[in-house]
Amino acid sequence: MAHLSAETMADGARLAGCYPERRSALIPLCHLAQAEQGYLSEEAMEDIAALVGVTPAEVRGTASFYDMLHTEPVGRYVLAFCTNIACMLAGAYELLEHAEELLGVHAGQTTPDGLFTIEEAECLADCDRAPCVQVNHRFVGALDSESLDLLVADLTAGNRQTEIPQHGVLCRVRRAVDLPARRGAAAGARSEKTTFAGGAGDGGAGS
Ligand code: FES
Repeated sequence: MAHLSAETMADGARLAGCYPERRSALIPLCHLAQAEQGYLSEEAMEDIAALVGVTPAEVRGTASFYDMLHTEPVGRYVLAFCTNIACMLAGAYELLEHAEELLGVHAGQTTPDGLFTIEEAECLADCDRAPCVQVNHRFVGALDSESLDLLVADLTAGNRQTEIPQHGVLCRVRRAVDLPARRGAAAGARSEKTTFAGGAGDGGAGS
């Protein structure tokens, strides 16, 4: 019996059918599963393996290679701070240090309430808006300590859910294979099942 929801399994089967070789759907399937759980659990990887006819170890081998896929629980919001050269010169390390003090965790860690994970990132290809920060892979512009404080306060209050849904939700993955946008009822069901670190929060907006 599948561990992922019936809707995700149905979408996954449809997605896998878009490729001449089902295993070619591995990465978009991982994103689809991650949208449900916020990360890829062992059980989700087993379901994906069954969908495309590979072993769970092969799914893990692929998922663990890519930065955008997480095989361990993360926060509802993953804050990625670029510290490459352009951003470093614009104060990225100072900004990251400020975030660590503000949230009380270091890069690579998640806050005890499961709301935020901090990551140090390589160049995010937004060098002209340094220091560059992404939240759940959405660009939030060049930040300083004051605007970061405001962003964290907004996210904590749930004020940016339409713009920045829960970690793992990537609208372009669905669009690329012509899957329907997330349906309202399904989005609600997902939020109840969400397994973010610490089990925080209410439902994220679909996209
Ligand atoms: S160096 Fe930070 S986005 Fe390129």
